[in-house]
Amino acid sequence: MNGPVVYLNGEFLPLDQARVSVLDRGFLFGDGVYEVIPVYGGRPLRLEEHLRRLDDSLRGIRMTSPLMRSEWSEIIGRLIDGVDDQSVYVQVTRGVGPARDHSIPVGVRPTVFAMASPITPVPVTGVRAITLEDIRWRWCNIKAITLLPNVLLRQQAVDRGCAEAVLVREGHVTEGTASNVFAVVGGTIVTPPKGPELLPGITRDLVLELVRAEGLPARERAISLEEFSGAEEIWITSSTREVLPVVELDGRPVGRGSPGPVWERVSALYQDFKRRLKRGITA
Ligand code: PDD
Repeated sequence: MNGPVVYLNGEFLPLDQARVSVLDRGFLFGDGVYEVIPVYGGRPLRLEEHLRRLDDSLRGIRMTSPLMRSEWSEIIGRLIDGVDDQSVYVQVTRGVGPARDHSIPVGVRPTVFAMASPITPVPVTGVRAITLEDIRWRWCNIKAITLLPNVLLRQQAVDRGCAEAVLVREGHVTEGTASNVFAVVGGTIVTPPKGPELLPGITRDLVLELVRAEGLPARERAISLEEFSGAEEIWITSSTREVLPVVELDGRPVGRGSPGPVWERVSALYQDFKRRLKRGITA
């Protein structure tokens, strides 16, 4: 027995024993969807919202959830090991078809996979980012496993010593390759509105909720590249990177070139939320 225990199609087994057919449509076509759920102190953050988004993604690719909410919760609960900070990856593909054929086969059983991994702490000193043209498809609200554009765009950022590429479609920023984006413009926190051009991030929604509860000005609206490039602050948000300040964009400093005062406040709110989650005061 080697590796952590993972879940595959009804079984809990060591990672190195988990096997999927080469005819799985996830492998052949990237025909599937996924979720990444952060877990703090053994408690999943916004589990209901993550499972609801999984349902939405499945509906978006003409599937329904193969499991009930209670079954998902039980699987995730069993994968979480102790009280360390972790993220649970959940993937559902359309399953193993009889042959390689683009059209959707009938009566195929979905492949369900889940595993937990440690969350690595995020750098609080901020990261560098670049902007790139958003070359992805138009259904980015679906959390599809088909991530080749995201992979290639992210690698362009990494090749240039950056942590993320912020994507731009028709002159407006959409999101990062694996994150949502926020900016502070004229003292107001802004983030692009939900729609088919971006993933409705759970962290994004939580950040908006926290800042609004605090009375900080926040708006969901389109952000032009020009406005974004001149923003006082830029942050990226995701389940694994939390709220991460971008201190340099396209080789130029953002604001003073260090994490800004609004980020300091928002980050404190986020860390406080995590502490309450760990104590079971919130979800
Ligand atoms: N990605 N946008 C994209 C394209 C993403 O892939 C992600 C997250 C987000 C942020 O969503 P959330 O706050 O719900 O994590 C936005 C995960 C972490 C990943 O692919 O690993």
